[in-house]
Amino acid sequence: MEEKKTVLSVKNLSVSFTQYERWIQRTTLLAVKDVSLTVREGELVAVVGSSGSGKSLLAHSVLGILPYNASWSGEISYYGERLTEKRMEKLRGKEIVLVPQSVSYLDPLMKAGPQIRKGKRDQGSRSESLQTLRRYGLDETVEKLYPFELSGGMTRRILISTAVMEKPKLVIADEPTPGLHLEAAKRVLSHFREMADEGAGVLLITHDLELALEVADRIVVFYAGTSVEEAFAADFREERFLRHPYSRALYRAMPEHGFCAAPGAQPYLKDRPSGCPYAPRCELQEARCSREVEYVGLKDGMVRCVKAEEG
Ligand SMILES: Nc1ncnc2c1ncn2[C@@H]1O[C@H](COP(=O)(O)OP(=O)(O)OP(=O)(O)O)[C@@H](O)[C@H]1O
Ligand SMILES: [Mg+2]
Repeated sequence: MEEKKTVLSVKNLSVSFTQYERWIQRTTLLAVKDVSLTVREGELVAVVGSSGSGKSLLAHSVLGILPYNASWSGEISYYGERLTEKRMEKLRGKEIVLVPQSVSYLDPLMKAGPQIRKGKRDQGSRSESLQTLRRYGLDETVEKLYPFELSGGMTRRILISTAVMEKPKLVIADEPTPGLHLEAAKRVLSHFREMADEGAGVLLITHDLELALEVADRIVVFYAGTSVEEAFAADFREERFLRHPYSRALYRAMPEHGFCAAPGAQPYLKDRPSGCPYAPRCELQEARCSREVEYVGLKDGMVRCVKAEEG
C-alpha cells in the first residue's frame, strides 16, 4: 500500500500571550503548551476540546495569523518542510485554507458571489464558483445576496465554498457547525469528509466529539491548552480502548453512554496547575501527576498520563 504523505506536522507547539496588569506589570500567559499532531493526505483529524482549550490558537498558529501580543515556539511543517512566514504567505488561501470559526470573516458589505471568487471576474472563475456552490446545495441566486440575507446553514456553506475554490491540500475547519441543527451539521461535516476522501488533509476543530466521530479518522483530545490524547476514532467505540482519564470522561458524557458528566470544570489558563492539568479532577490522581507529564506514544496513539502505561 502506498504510504500517505504527511501534509501537516506540528511538534511541541506552545503559544503565549504577553499581557499588562494594572498597566505596568508584565505577565506571560501560556495558552497552548506542548501540542503535537500530524495530518496525512486523505485523512481527517479532529481536534476536540471544550471552550478555551486552545483549539483556535492551534489553527491560527499554523496559518500564521496569531494576534500581535502572541508568540509561539515549536515546529510547524507542511509536506516535510518548515512552514516559514514567507512560505505561508504564498500558500494561505490557496493550498492551505481556513474555514473560520466566526462568520464575521465574511465582508458584510459585499455580496456572496464576489467573496467566493475573491474578486475575480473572468468567466472561468464564475463558472467554477457556481459549480462549487452547486456542490454544496446552493445556486446562483445566493451569489447576489449579502451576508445578512443568508441563513446560518447557507453562511457556513458559503464559507466552505470560499475556502475550497482553490482546491486546497490542507483544510483547517475551525468549529464549522455552530448554530446548525443536527442534520445540517452532519451535512457540513460530510463535505469535509469528501475533501479528505479526494486526497486533502483536513484538520477539523470542534467541541462536539459525537459529530467528530462520524467523520474523523483520528481524534486529538485537548484539555486546558494541551493535547492529552490522540486516538483512532474507532478507539472511541469502547471506553477501555482510551488511554487518558479525560478522554474516558468525554466518552461517558456522550448521550449514548449515559450523559454522565465528570465533576468539576476545566481550569482557567492562569490557574492551570503544574503537571497534568486534569489531575485535580482525576480519579487516578497521585503525587507524580504534579510534575511535567510527557506526551508519549502508546498502543497506536499518544497520551499524556503517567498512569496510562499501567492501565
Ligand atoms: N488575544 C488573546 N489575548 C490573551 N489571551 C488569549 C487571546 N486569545 C486567546 N487567549 C487565551 O487562549 C485561550 C484559548 O483560546 P482559543 O480561542 O484557542 O480557545 P478555543 O479552544 O478555540 O475555544 P472556543 O471553543 O471557545 O472557540 C483562551 O481561553 C484565552 O485564555
Ligand atoms: Mg475557537
